[in-house]
Amino acid sequence: MPEMSREKVAAVEGSALGQIHDIDIDDVLDYVHKDLKRLPGYIELYQRYLRQRWDVYEIDFAQDARDWTDRMTQDEREAFTAISSGFHHGERQVEVELPVFMLGGSEESRIYMSSQIEDEARHTVFFDRFYREVVGLPGDSVQDVLDASFQHVSETFVGPFGLLAYQADELRADPEDLAARVRYGTTYFLWIEGVLALSVMKITLSYCRNAGLLPGYYTGFTATCRDEARHVQFGMRFLREAVQEDPRLLREIHETLRTILVINGATSRRLALEALGWTQDEVRRLMIRQLTMKLVDVGIDLPPDVQQMISNIEPELAGG
Ligand SMILES: [Fe+2]
Ligand SMILES: [Fe+2]
Repeated sequence: MPEMSREKVAAVEGSALGQIHDIDIDDVLDYVHKDLKRLPGYIELYQRYLRQRWDVYEIDFAQDARDWTDRMTQDEREAFTAISSGFHHGERQVEVELPVFMLGGSEESRIYMSSQIEDEARHTVFFDRFYREVVGLPGDSVQDVLDASFQHVSETFVGPFGLLAYQADELRADPEDLAARVRYGTTYFLWIEGVLALSVMKITLSYCRNAGLLPGYYTGFTATCRDEARHVQFGMRFLREAVQEDPRLLREIHETLRTILVINGATSRRLALEALGWTQDEVRRLMIRQLTMKLVDVGIDLPPDVQQMISNIEPELAGG
C-alpha cells in the first residue's frame, strides 16, 4: 500500500465533526492500516480518542429522512437496513461485552479500554437515532428500537456475535486468562471490527458518497470508522504483544480463526448487495484484503489450511 500523504493523515486525524463530510472513506480505511507496523501505545490511542471524540447529538438527520423516502428505491432501503441492522445490534452488544475485557491487562490498557466502551455506547446511540429519525422505526426506549430492527438482522450477525458472547462468558470466569483474552480479541478486534465492520463501512459509505445520499449517516459513520481505526490498532497491538509474551498463543489465534471461518461458510442466505452497487465477489475480495493486510502488518503468520479457508470467505456483514 502506498504511503498516505501527510495532508491526508492530518485531514483524517484532525477533522472536527462538521468537516468530516469532506473526507473520503478510502482515506479513513488507509488510516486504519497506516500505523499497524509501528502500532501506537495504549496511552497514545487514549490521547487520540480525547481529541477525536464527537458529539452524536450534533448529527443532523433531516436531509437523510428526505433521501430515505424520496430518493432511495425499496431495494436500496432493504439492502441498507439488512446491512446496517447487524451494526445496530453489534454496537450494542460490544458496548455490554467489553467491560469484561477491560478487567484484565495492564493499567494503560484499562484506561484506553474505558474510551472504547464510551465509543461503542456512542455508536449505539448513533444507530438508535438513525433508525428512529431516518428509517422511522417506532419505540420509546433504545431497547424498543433494537427490537424493531431485529427482524432485519441476518444470520451472518448471529455467528460471530454468538461466538463473542460465548468467549465473553469464558472470560468472565477469569478476566486475566490470557489465552481466553486472545480468543476474544481475535473474534472481536480482528474479525468483527477489522474485517466485518470495515467492510460494511466501505460498502455503505461509498454508496452514500457515489449517490450523494444520507449526509448525516455519512458524517456519523465516517467518524465511527475513525474510532474503529483506534479500536483495530489497539486490538492488533494486544494480539502482537500476547504472542510475543507467549508464542504458543499463536495457536489460539489460528484455532479461533478456524472456528470463525467454519461459521462463515455455513451461511445459507445471501445478502442483497447488488442494490448498493456491489457484487459478491467484490465483497469477498474486500474482506480477504481487510483480514490479510492486518495479519501481514503485525507479523501473524497463518498455516496453509487457514489460508485456504480465507480464500473461500463468504460475504458477511455486521460490525461493532
Ligand atoms: Fe469498535
Ligand atoms: Fe463501534
